[in-house]
Amino acid sequence: MREAIHASGGWLPFDRFMALVLYEPGLGYYANQTPKFGQLPQGQGGQGSDFVTAPELTPLFGHTLARQLAQALEATGTDEIWEFGAGTGALALQVLDALVALGRPPRRYTIVDLSGSLRERQRATLASHADRVHWADRLPEAFEGVLLGNEVLDAMPVQLLRRTGGQADGVWQERGVVVTPEGRLAWADRCTAQRPPVEIEGPHDYLTEIHPQAEAFVRTLAERWRRGAGFFIDYGFPEAEYYHPQRHMGTLICHRAHRSDPDPLSDLGLKDITAHVNFTGIALAAQDAGLSVLGYTSQGRFLLNCGLLDVAKDAGPKDNAMLGKLVNEHEMGELFKVIALAPAGSETGWEPAGFSAGDRTHRL
Ligand SMILES: C[S@@+](CC[C@H](N)C(=O)[O-])C[C@H]1O[C@@H](n2cnc3c(N)ncnc32)[C@H](O)[C@@H]1O
Repeated sequence: MREAIHASGGWLPFDRFMALVLYEPGLGYYANQTPKFGQLPQGQGGQGSDFVTAPELTPLFGHTLARQLAQALEATGTDEIWEFGAGTGALALQVLDALVALGRPPRRYTIVDLSGSLRERQRATLASHADRVHWADRLPEAFEGVLLGNEVLDAMPVQLLRRTGGQADGVWQERGVVVTPEGRLAWADRCTAQRPPVEIEGPHDYLTEIHPQAEAFVRTLAERWRRGAGFFIDYGFPEAEYYHPQRHMGTLICHRAHRSDPDPLSDLGLKDITAHVNFTGIALAAQDAGLSVLGYTSQGRFLLNCGLLDVAKDAGPKDNAMLGKLVNEHEMGELFKVIALAPAGSETGWEPAGFSAGDRTHRL
């Protein structure tokens, strides 16, 4: 990291810092061999994981999503699924098992992940579907299919913007990382013409994130995606909530051993760094690039609309307890949202089941 900071003139903008810390081959958090995903940390019956995601909690998550994917495959006349950032492969397994049981398995299930180190783990998880599962390091120039990404957008590097002096005569700066004379990493802010997408009221200091990489990801999809529908699930808000004056410390957070901390400058590569998603930014980037927004709602509402209770009718007590975590408002049900996108021509003639009640697209 010191070399990288030196090579960039002594100041590294935070998004480049975050990209290195998470994805630098062999060293970055998602490029090294630490366990990352699981329900418990080391020493509490766990194997040293740092955080848990919905598919790691219960297969009910993927089995329910599969109903939505089956409808989307049918409605858009496609027979491929592309999953971005597949983690341990748990979601892919749940989706493929359920689609096989529904009699509608996709011809191909392709995993696109920046993390090569997770591939062996995914291969082992998905051994029973080896004939359908493929991996791609990058998107082809043209593709079609139904897209899926759980907690991927939040893992894309963000820029940090800081305002001191309040709304009236405040100064906006971009936050970056320097090396102090003692050799430690430290924050350093530089003046910038960049601004958050909405004016932030109030006399107080304010730190927040903007998400050019996630929006560029959506634009890349738009350029190459010919047919299908895509479902992205993540924690986040519409921009009016994201840039609310009271959210003055932003949403950047680190996760290690199931604890969160606000300091990305320590333990590089040993903990996850993430920021919430600005779903308005995703929707606007999509529309500007020619995609349609098919729907936007909370995870809880989406899963219930897709038939979670029916999927869970024979579930045991453990999965039933986890079902609560997926949908309860004070757990994942409200903080997590689902946004669905489609390329031109794939949006007409159907309504995704997950948004049949409680669609909030108008709030973006
Ligand atoms: C928080 S993990 C989520 C894993 C999994 N989806 C789950 O729910 O357990 C984020 C994953 O997204 C991947 N990722 C980040 N940016 C990506 C991109 N532009 N394309 C594909 N994968 C990406 C990371 O490598 C990592 O595997």
